[in-house]
Amino acid sequence: MMKRTGVLIPVIVFVSAVVSVSAFADHREKKEHQFFNKLKEHTSGKSQEDHGNENTGQMAAWLFAVANFPVAGTLLTRRFLLTKTSGNFQKTAGKIYSWLKKDLMPYHYVLNTGAIIMALIHFRLSWCRSTSLPEWAVLLVTLLGLSGMILKFRLIPQPLIRKVRAIHTHPAVVVGVFGLLFLGHQFLD
Ligand code: HEM
Repeated sequence: MMKRTGVLIPVIVFVSAVVSVSAFADHREKKEHQFFNKLKEHTSGKSQEDHGNENTGQMAAWLFAVANFPVAGTLLTRRFLLTKTSGNFQKTAGKIYSWLKKDLMPYHYVLNTGAIIMALIHFRLSWCRSTSLPEWAVLLVTLLGLSGMILKFRLIPQPLIRKVRAIHTHPAVVVGVFGLLFLGHQFLD
């Protein structure tokens, strides 16, 4: 079970990042195709707003992708390099692992926080939505980020920290949140 989870998490993090980027991009493409319909629906003043919306969506997606790169790196190193090598190779793997953990994980905290703020701005600027799925996804991604902050700054007692860590790092939670984000963008008009 643990072994399977060890493989699943990095795969999920990679897929989630790529999927969320493509979801935002796809959303933009759809909007371009429906340009004339949108013109009929909205006053011209709104198109300026929509442009800002596209940019914030793209930025949030890329921030999420980069922010979760160190996580995927640490998990893959742990799963495939540390456990499958020995001798000098393992020493090098250990160095890579502590570099990822010590030097790159701070980007996970900062860029994910930035991505969430950008996603909230994107949500605020959005208009003409035909589904509430993106709202739910934004709420859940924000909660996921808050759980990360609880872990980082140890904001609650230790026994609860363990539970929060289990949620924050669970593959089903990560895939569920980014899956909802993806689906929500597919159903947008
Ligand atoms: C919302 C997007 C986020 C996702 C999808 C995410 C996902 C993950 C995953 C999969 C891990 C496991 C890494 C490992 O086992 O080495 C992790 C670890 C961690 N994340 Fe996040 N995270 C997010 C946001 C944040 C934020 C905003 C913070 C803090 C400001 C944060 C803080 C942490 C910490 C402290 C760990 C290490 C947990 C530990 O093993 O003790 N995360 N995150």
